[in-house]
Amino acid sequence: MANHRIAVLGGDGIGPEVVAEGLKVLRAAGEVYGFTAETTDYPYGTDHFLATGEKFPDSALDAMRQHDAVFLGAIGDPRVEVGMLERAIIAGLRFQLDLYVNLRPIKLYDERLCPLKGKTPDDIDFVVVRENTEDAYAGIGGILKKGTPNEVAMQSMVYTRNGVERVIRYAFDLCRKRNQKRRLTLVDKANAIRAQDIWTRVFAEVAKEYPDIETDHGYVDATCMWFLKKPEWYDTIVTPNLFGDIITDLGAAIQGGMGIAASGNIHPGKVSMFEPIHGSAPKYAGKNVANPIAAIAAVGMMLDYLGEHEAGAAIDSAIQTLLTSGKVQNLRAGTHATNDVGDWTVELIQGA
Ligand code: IPM
Ligand code: MN
Repeated sequence: MANHRIAVLGGDGIGPEVVAEGLKVLRAAGEVYGFTAETTDYPYGTDHFLATGEKFPDSALDAMRQHDAVFLGAIGDPRVEVGMLERAIIAGLRFQLDLYVNLRPIKLYDERLCPLKGKTPDDIDFVVVRENTEDAYAGIGGILKKGTPNEVAMQSMVYTRNGVERVIRYAFDLCRKRNQKRRLTLVDKANAIRAQDIWTRVFAEVAKEYPDIETDHGYVDATCMWFLKKPEWYDTIVTPNLFGDIITDLGAAIQGGMGIAASGNIHPGKVSMFEPIHGSAPKYAGKNVANPIAAIAAVGMMLDYLGEHEAGAAIDSAIQTLLTSGKVQNLRAGTHATNDVGDWTVELIQGA
């Protein structure tokens, strides 16, 4: 029987609560589909930082490398400097483990969840492949003469040939595997940010190896508009890190909100990290009101990545049932108890 070693980082705010529901579902899926999951909890996050001064030490990264996957809840807490622990832990994992793909499916499960008029599940089912190790996130920049009238602040958008090519290849392969519209859209802003010409060129070059895939291009500003007007156009999207961050919040909104959107931070063949896209929502922490579906969906993506395709599909279909049957009425915090939603998912998996 396969055993999967999972590092668990509950993190801040609602993170530990939604992660607990994800783990419930993970165990239930293991029983039904015949695998075990050996989980190890790690304490990194704001409480740990305030108690020890430690953000995310090298020893933690080494520990992550000893696992098959990492399951992360959320990081972020107003008691510490904005973004400090997000950069250390989330970006730390992405960069140090070289998780160059951030995979973000945008799928509408039920028409009632969509804020767009007249759009149905047939219209919204695409995936964003967000580059995850470069761009404005690369950390090349800083502030000089801070607080003076001569202050200088800069941050570089960094793209490497290798970094661009590998994520574009991943997106072409994924598009072929999805076997839906076989359309891959490159989203960039190469008309204004000339450095992104490297994306245009590499995309065109790699496309020659995939004659069965239709190539398409959109500027990021126009893409935001088209997400709302014509989401049915999209199949697979590939885009630099920062634009991927922005358009996937919009994507989450059209699929029902942050309560449902999950992501995988992937380096094929290596230890990869799975997390809900939402943040730590401190105002809901500890109240058992956060919706755990995004975290549960992240577990589904993780299992699929680990080769447990049936279990991954079962979790996806359990979520679908919860949302279409009306058992979960909406994804807003407070509508259902966090642990109830986890229990209902477990029941559906056991009954599958
Ligand atoms: C995300 C988040 C992160 C990002 C933050 C927390 C650094 O918004 O995963 O989308 O910008 O990538
Ligand atoms: Mn984001």
